Amino acid sequence: MNKNNQKRGMDNQKSTKLWGGRFQNPTSDITERISSSIHFDYRLYKQDIHGTIAHVKMLNRIDILSEEEMRNIEKELLSIKKDIDENKFEFSASFEDIHMNIEAELINRIGDIGRKVHTGRSRNDQIALDLMLYIKDEGGEIKLLLKNLIDKLVNLAKEHIDIILPGYTHLQVAQPVRFSHYLLAHTWAFIRDIERLNTAVKACESMPLGVGALAGVNYRNDREFLRQELGFNKITSNSMDTVSNRDFVLDFLYFSAILGMHLSRFCEELVLWSSSEFAFIRLSDSVTTGSSIMPQKRNPDIAELIRGKCGRLYGNLLSLLTTMKGLPLTYNRDMQEDKEPLFDSVDTVKLSLEGLFEMISTMKINTERMNTSICSNFSTATDLADYLVMKGVPFRESHGIVGKIVQHCEENRINFFNISVEELQKFSSVFKDDIVNILNPELSTERKISSGGTSKKEVIKQIEGINRKLMEITIV
Ligand code: ARG
Repeated sequence: MNKNNQKRGMDNQKSTKLWGGRFQNPTSDITERISSSIHFDYRLYKQDIHGTIAHVKMLNRIDILSEEEMRNIEKELLSIKKDIDENKFEFSASFEDIHMNIEAELINRIGDIGRKVHTGRSRNDQIALDLMLYIKDEGGEIKLLLKNLIDKLVNLAKEHIDIILPGYTHLQVAQPVRFSHYLLAHTWAFIRDIERLNTAVKACESMPLGVGALAGVNYRNDREFLRQELGFNKITSNSMDTVSNRDFVLDFLYFSAILGMHLSRFCEELVLWSSSEFAFIRLSDSVTTGSSIMPQKRNPDIAELIRGKCGRLYGNLLSLLTTMKGLPLTYNRDMQEDKEPLFDSVDTVKLSLEGLFEMISTMKINTERMNTSICSNFSTATDLADYLVMKGVPFRESHGIVGKIVQHCEENRINFFNISVEELQKFSSVFKDDIVNILNPELSTERKISSGGTSKKEVIKQIEGINRKLMEITIV
């Protein structure tokens, strides 16, 4: 912290705070330490200055600031912003938060005119505005990261459309699926995440500035002008609700928590599949790490860390939900606790999305291992049962017959690909030579012709559907 700034806050025994008029004595050290938020809310400086410039223009429109005063203030605010951008600004804990650090510096630089800036405004509406602008800005960046990830997954799906993967339920081999189909399954979850992000950003569409501390202000301010200036769709309708509301932050944290859950599930598969037991994929050296003791190790730390970060994303949501519970209307200082969870979720989501992108862009796919698992684990057993059904055997009976064939194969250490038609006929005379096609994993996927199934035609349809959906949801 800058010494001069500290002095400006604490240079005599009386309070020199911007709000210090009625105080006889300065605040104690512990009060400063508990109440100061500048060490984290400095991140809102761009939004704060953006909001103040709009406010100042509005004050000029209603004749509280002259044209010249407005221009001077705007110029000075932009120069403060430049200093912060260039890391030349020293924040001071004694000015508590970002709002007062900027205001105090403005007064410091241009003198008394700066004292007019807070006319008809409270930090309560100011912080609501800053947070909404921040979520809109960061929401845009996160949407882009999600879109890049989705584009990558779609491209991989196109490229690997002929690779067949064992599909799982209960983590037991179930039925063959196209690797593309699997990638697109995760893609749909990310599409829903963009939709949830859109909802969170839409919750930031009512402009809060100009409601004052809680009751409205004693000026005919022009909130409609502020709305246009700040790029919102509408203005809030109730001053008390405006300064009490943190639903939009919770919406963002909820979006982040669900996205974190999706990322953790994807990463869990990357961890499993890159193990030597599965070896379906090989993660690149660039996203794996070694062990300090076991020279042979290649650990999927990035996938594990992203999986692990889901915990803090849930925690951030729970943290703010709990902070908000039971708060009486309107603004309460508890609400300052909204920022660290929000900032942490923004950082975590961005980091995780970039990490997953890097892992899937650089991984190698081992089709042979996938094929071995498909063939040795009776993944086409359902097709065998359906074959009998097509030839008139009731499904429950055919299920029983195939169950016995599987048992026979296991006992004799053979699989569906080295059992002869003659042997099959011992279980049911319905089996004929055409059974060979039925057991083929790729042909098995081709028979999944139901809408949304894993046949090539359906997978291609899905890719088209995703592209259409992506156009629709990313321009919102
Ligand atoms: N730093 C405060 C926050 O983050 C700003 C609003 C303070 N308002 C007040 N009346 N003390 O919530």
